[in-house]
Amino acid sequence: MTKITIAIDGYSSTGKSTIAKQLAKALEYVYVDTGAMYRAVTLYAMRNGFVGGSKDSISLLCDSLFKVKLHFGYNEALGYSEMYLNDENVEKEIRTLEVSKNVSRVAEIQEVREMLVEQQKEMGKNKGIVMDGRDIGTVVFPDAELKIFMTASADKRAYRRYKELLDKGEKVTYEEVLKNVESRDYIDSHREFSPLRQAEDAVPFDNSDMGLDEQFDRMYNFALRIIEKKKKDA
Ligand code: DC
Repeated sequence: MTKITIAIDGYSSTGKSTIAKQLAKALEYVYVDTGAMYRAVTLYAMRNGFVGGSKDSISLLCDSLFKVKLHFGYNEALGYSEMYLNDENVEKEIRTLEVSKNVSRVAEIQEVREMLVEQQKEMGKNKGIVMDGRDIGTVVFPDAELKIFMTASADKRAYRRYKELLDKGEKVTYEEVLKNVESRDYIDSHREFSPLRQAEDAVPFDNSDMGLDEQFDRMYNFALRIIEKKKKDA
């Protein structure tokens, strides 16, 4: 069967993972949420007191990276994979605002990025994968057949995230979530190593005013067209 690689990048809370999961399901591809991997390393750093951005905390984290074992475990009941940190299911803990507040600083560290990018490349070596993140189309899979770059206005994204956190029972304010979204946008796109940017051959996709069904239909059609073309060219 002809399989392709689909890279979905973009700003935080643009709904990348929702759409990526749907696409993977429809195409029977593997889905990988790379943000979850950065979040799991951040949780590890928080539990061990390695956050705060000082040189010492960064080097302590780097020295301990060999102890951080990550894997995704498929949850039959939910129909998607969950993140495990050293064999512990951390899917819930990594989604808190506390982790969101620290993750961009951890994701700036070159050693962390190198370790995770290597694991991500390995996961996608047989194609048939939908991976979402910030550097998938630029660094992890520069040869991906389909690259999408998602954007939406900061207030729409913050509102979506705010509602999600409230639904999960977290006590947060809209202003706090907006501040976090804006600060992550800034750090993610200004960091030294693989900053968030649109790959030249990525399709820009602004979903500020688009419902989920429309987003899915458009992306699914992009993917089918590319798969068909690849079949013909083979
Ligand atoms: O997609 P997310 O919001 O769960 O990602 C959490 C953070 O991880 C985000 O602020 C930036 C970082 N990240 C990254 O630097 N590179 C990736 N490929 C994925 C996420």
